[in-house]
Amino acid sequence: MRARLPWILPLFLALGACSEEEPTRRERVPLTEDRERLERLGEGLYRTHCALCHGRDGEGYQADEAPMLANQEWLRSASDEFITAAIANGRPGTPMSAWSRAHGGPLSDVQILAIRTYLRSWLRFPRANVDDTRVEGDPARGHILYAVHCSRCHGARGEGVDAVALANPALLATASDGFLQYAILHGRSGTRMLAFRDQLEPQQIDDVVAYVRSMGDPDAVARAAHDHDHPPRPPEIAPLAEMQLVVNPDAQPARLTLRDERFVPAAHVRRELERGRRIILLDARPPSDWLTRRIPGAVPVPFYELESVISLLPRDGTPVVAYCACPHAASGQVVDGLRRNGFTNTAVLDEGIDHWANEGYPVASGPAQP
Ligand code: HEC
Ligand code: HEC
Repeated sequence: MRARLPWILPLFLALGACSEEEPTRRERVPLTEDRERLERLGEGLYRTHCALCHGRDGEGYQADEAPMLANQEWLRSASDEFITAAIANGRPGTPMSAWSRAHGGPLSDVQILAIRTYLRSWLRFPRANVDDTRVEGDPARGHILYAVHCSRCHGARGEGVDAVALANPALLATASDGFLQYAILHGRSGTRMLAFRDQLEPQQIDDVVAYVRSMGDPDAVARAAHDHDHPPRPPEIAPLAEMQLVVNPDAQPARLTLRDERFVPAAHVRRELERGRRIILLDARPPSDWLTRRIPGAVPVPFYELESVISLLPRDGTPVVAYCACPHAASGQVVDGLRRNGFTNTAVLDEGIDHWANEGYPVASGPAQP
C-alpha cells in the first residue's frame, strides 16, 4: 500500500488543482524558457528596487539590517510562499517596504515572481523542504535559552536590536516552524547568525522555536496572515503632476543648516515647518510607505523613480529635503540624483521618518494630501 502512495499523491494534487475555481495567489510553476525570461526580468527589477539595501549580488547589509538574500541556508529553507509574502507585504515597522501593487507598491505579481525566480538562481544546492517538519517545544524553557543565546542580537522580546525582528507579525505569519528551526540549527553562513546545532540539543532548539513562535502578538499575526491571503484593494494615488509639490508655496524659503553638507536634523525641518516656511519634502520610499505614514505635505518620489519629479520641481532655490526609513540609503540616492541635475539646495533628513514619528512630530497617511 505504501509503495503506491507516491503515484496516487500527484494525481490527487493534480485533480485538486483543476477543481480550484477562485484565482489564488499561488502561481503555476513556469516552464524552462519562461523561467529564463523571468530570471532576466527579475535581475533588472532586483537591481533597480532591491540592490540599494540587499546589495547588487544579494550580499546584504548595504542599508541597515537588510539580510543577505544570496545566503545558501536562507535560499534552501525559504518556501516560495515565504519569499513572495516578504516582498509583496514587506515587514511593517522596518525599512522593508510592501512592494505589491495591492499595497500601493510598484510591482505586479508577475514582477514579484520574476524577482523571486532571480533570487532562486543564486541557490547552488538542492532545496530543503522544511515546512512540514514537526516542531514540539516548551516555550518557557525556550525563553531562558533565548535570553542567553539570542536576545543580544534579536532583542529581549524579538524586537530586533541589530538583527531581524523575530517578533514581526508579518514574519511569523509566513515562517513555518521548520524554517525557524533550520535557521537556528544551521545558521546563515557569511552573516552573524551562527549555527546552534553544536551548542544546543535538538530539543533545546525546538524549545527556542516554540518561544520565538510565542513572541508575536497573536492578533497581529492573524491579521498579517489574513492580509496576505486577501490582499487589500490598491489605493489610488494622484499622479505627481496633480499634487502640490511645495509646502507653503507663498512663504519665505526654509533655512537649513547641514551637517557634512548633506544631512539636516529632523528638529530643524520640524521648526521650519512650524514657522510656515516654504519647503519641498520628498518621500524616497515606495508609495506603499508614503500611504502608511509620511511627513505632512511630502510627495512620493521613490528612489528608483527620481526622473518622474525632475521636470516638475521648481528651480527657484526652494530647499528640498528627502527622507526614508533606512534612514539614509533611499533618501541619499534621491539627493545625489537631484544634485546631479543641478538642484543644490537639497538635504537628507538625518534621522529618518521613524525617528520623526517617535519624536511625536506630525505625520499623515492615506492617498489624499497633505
Ligand atoms: C530600504 C532598504 C530595503 C529595500 C530597498 C529592500 N529591502 Fe528587503 N529588507 C530590508 C530590511 C531592513 C529587511 C529586514 C526586515 C526585518 O527586520 O525584519 C528586509 C527583509 C527582506 C526579506 C525577508 C528575509 C527574511 O528571511 O526574513 C526579503 C525576502 C526581502 N527583504 C527582499 C527584498 C526584495 C526582493 C526587494 C526589492 C523588491 C527588497 N527586499 C528591497 C530592507 C530593504
Ligand atoms: C550575533 C548575533 C546573532 C545571534 C546571537 C543570533 N542571531 Fe539569529 N540572526 C542574526 C542575523 C544577523 C540574522 C540574519 C542573517 C541573514 O540572513 O542575513 C539572523 C537570522 C535569524 C533567523 C532567520 C530570520 C529570517 O527572517 O530569515 C532566525 C529564525 C534567527 N536568527 C533566530 C535566532 C535564535 C533563536 C538565536 C538564538 C538561539 C539567534 N538567532 C542568535 C544574528 C544573530
